[in-house]
Amino acid sequence: MTDWTRRDFMKAAGGTALASTLAAHPAAAVPSERVRHAVIGTGNQGQNHAEGFSRFPDCEVVAVCDVDPARRAEAAKALPNAARVEQFEDFRALLERKDIDSVSIATPDHWHTWVALAALKAGKHVYVEKPCSHNVREGEALVKAAAQSGKCVQHGTQGRSGKGIQDAVRFLREGNLGAVRAAKAINHQLREPIGREPDSDPPAGVNYDLWLGPAPKRPFSKNRWHYNWHWFWAYGGGDLVNDGIHQVDQARWGLGVGLPNAVSASSAQLFYRDDHETPDTQLLTFEYDQCHLIYEMRLWTDYPMEGHDNGVVFYGDKGILEIGRAGCSVTFIGQPKKKIGEGTDFAANIRNFLDCVKAGTPEKLNAPITEGHISATLCHLGNIASRVGRRLTFDAKTMACVSDDEANKLLGREYRSGYELPVV
Ligand SMILES: NC(=O)c1ccc[n+]([C@@H]2O[C@H](COP(=O)([O-])OP(=O)(O)OC[C@H]3O[C@@H](n4cnc5c(N)ncnc54)[C@H](O)[C@@H]3O)[C@@H](O)[C@H]2O)c1
Repeated sequence: MTDWTRRDFMKAAGGTALASTLAAHPAAAVPSERVRHAVIGTGNQGQNHAEGFSRFPDCEVVAVCDVDPARRAEAAKALPNAARVEQFEDFRALLERKDIDSVSIATPDHWHTWVALAALKAGKHVYVEKPCSHNVREGEALVKAAAQSGKCVQHGTQGRSGKGIQDAVRFLREGNLGAVRAAKAINHQLREPIGREPDSDPPAGVNYDLWLGPAPKRPFSKNRWHYNWHWFWAYGGGDLVNDGIHQVDQARWGLGVGLPNAVSASSAQLFYRDDHETPDTQLLTFEYDQCHLIYEMRLWTDYPMEGHDNGVVFYGDKGILEIGRAGCSVTFIGQPKKKIGEGTDFAANIRNFLDCVKAGTPEKLNAPITEGHISATLCHLGNIASRVGRRLTFDAKTMACVSDDEANKLLGREYRSGYELPVV
């Protein structure tokens, strides 16, 4: 699993990853240049953001926001400046604070673009968690708004800030493996079943209506709430847009490709017999002129597949290059595997964002929204092909599937009245 967990962050923050990132930026400690940052959505990943941003001396997390009062209080309490951290239930009130320079968005996916557009409108820089959008049309709107605003919009595909992965991509681009005609993005891990949960009242004090936001009104259920919302189409997109997007993004980056010509899918629930709507098994092929990008997902066993649990394999004429949790390695045909670098780096992605915010250089972002949107689009198309059950031919000029009204309907969504997307 390359998704960054709280435990991983603490490990890295206490160890070399964060330390070396901080050491590489000594000028960052000037208090007058402090970025005033806020975190919207303080669940598992939002708390990683609050801690991650606050560990840089040139950044202060001044506000946190969550519709769940226990979670926003927990996030504020963990910060070094806890007494000064303002807590908000409604991000729209937070965005009115003029002294806030930038925000992290770590809500469920169905809110990502909505909050990002509102934040840009309020003049903030944005670090939006992956996937940047809940559907393709949202991603297009966000790319447009980011360009118009001139603000920095960093995407939570932090692998792009990992030095080892940057080196590995350069190695591929220099032609060291010969022609690379295929890459396989592997997402292979155990995601436990969630069972069946009846609808119930939301926990006391929680603003469940604001949690639902643009999604259709529906009674509360523990299974569609914190974290488990990933497995319902109205809020998430399954593990393809949860963890798989990291591997899809790195595979696409290494291959040097953008939007595909076609997408086909074999997709099923072979394991879950519960409330899950999204698949536990997916095999997708994204077709390009010169190569294929394959995505293979199995969520039912934690054994290493082809030596990996999770990562990308690039297949070249002369050998293979692998990116995974254990780092990056290359194997030329007939020779032993050689490690060439480390893997993903959350702290470095934050550092890169802060540097760009301070310098006003969105063009220097490592994981810019333009790239995040394309990788999110691949994932959305993979899910659409899975849901309609056929191969999609995609026209990147019109950003639509050719002669497929049913698929094209899923490129957007219906917004609940009062929660239509903000226009920037
Ligand atoms: N980059 C990574 O490696 C990585 C790792 C984990 C999660 N993530 C991403 O982070 C996001 C959050 O994931 P999570 O696991 O923390 O989910 P989570 O359900 O634990 O947390 C989401 C939080 O957002 C809050 N929220 C919902 N609507 C809100 C609103 N309108 N305003 C403010 N807060 C609101 C919820 O109450 C909850 O506390 C997801 O999009 C996920 O894909 C990224």
